Amino acid sequence: MRLCFYLKNFSLVNIGNIALPGFPLLLAPMEDVSDPPFRIVCKNNGADLLYTEFISSEGLIRDAIKCRRKLDIFDEERPVGIQLFGGDEESLALAAKIVEIVNPDLLDINFGCPVKKVACKGAGAGVLKDIDLMVRLTEACVKATNIPVTVKTRLGWDEQTKNIEEVAERLQDVGIKALTIHGRTRSQMYKGEADWSLIGKIKNNPRIHIPVFGNGDINSPQKALEYKNRYGVDGIMIGRAAIDYPWIFREIKHYLLSGELHPAPTVEERVAVCKKHLRKSIEWKGASRGVFEMRHHYMNYFKGLPNIKEFKSRLVQLTGYEEIAEVLDEIKIYYKGIEIAQMEIELVNYHEHCSL
Ligand SMILES: Cc1cc2nc3c(=O)[nH]c(=O)nc-3n(C[C@H](O)[C@H](O)[C@H](O)COP(=O)(O)O)c2cc1C
Repeated sequence: MRLCFYLKNFSLVNIGNIALPGFPLLLAPMEDVSDPPFRIVCKNNGADLLYTEFISSEGLIRDAIKCRRKLDIFDEERPVGIQLFGGDEESLALAAKIVEIVNPDLLDINFGCPVKKVACKGAGAGVLKDIDLMVRLTEACVKATNIPVTVKTRLGWDEQTKNIEEVAERLQDVGIKALTIHGRTRSQMYKGEADWSLIGKIKNNPRIHIPVFGNGDINSPQKALEYKNRYGVDGIMIGRAAIDYPWIFREIKHYLLSGELHPAPTVEERVAVCKKHLRKSIEWKGASRGVFEMRHHYMNYFKGLPNIKEFKSRLVQLTGYEEIAEVLDEIKIYYKGIEIAQMEIELVNYHEHCSL
């Protein structure tokens, strides 16, 4: 019975030669966030497909060594996609060739980044103003590589130019293998609520046969199920909610399969995930940066525990793995057996706080 339900609702989703489990959950590409340590944490907690943060095609060509770090991918995170942005056909095609060296499972093109330094230089969401250019850029990339090419974009440049329906058909025609749509325009940045109605319309367009993934504002299992049913998308991409709470992926999966809410992670689990994230951070970034960049994650991992601030202020002063692990073990003992209530995941308007 359960198997029939699963097969009916969750048949495999193929992106080129990559077969993803039914109704895959994708970790969004996020600048300065979606690095290998964070990606692995999300993968371990149910994310089916991961993306690197965006990488400038021009930057990659000019200074491949500096950007090389951003190309680091590891077998344990596969399938993983590398995301590029750029506004010049030749550069994008050349960057696609460079990316082939590290053999990602797919190559994603960013036509959605709204920040001035990208969009106003004719890349990212800037390309939404010129669909012919977008098609040429995409085609150049598809022709340059044998890796499946996917695109992530927004509804359009502004309220008056929501051209995503034309975009979807034309990009499919030049060979992309999947499309992810963030339900906002460029002018909206991160304001207001994501509007998924056009995403649903594209999914239901009989001309469209590639997978269509919806993105924007998913922060609970209930919302994921509601949007799955209402808009019929092939899967969901999650960004900000995962930063706060990487367990969102497994909780959505559990809810979709059983209709029941997965209990929030225990303190033991939180400590284990935090330690792993820290270890991976140190391995990949080196001791000093690895520890430093973990500091903003502590509060997220232990949100909801009474008086956790005292532990947090100790954690952020420490610099070595062993001493941090000791405090984490103290947290485990201090809060042992405490049930942590499910909390609503707040969706921060990152645009106000960082460059995106
Ligand atoms: C800190 C941050 C960095 C981001 N960097 C990228 C990026 O490199 N490439 C990209 O396509 N989108 C980027 N985005 C947009 C996300 O991928 C996603 O489309 C957006 O956050 C909406 O999804 P959400 O509501 O689940 O967060 C970024 C978002 C945030 C919050």
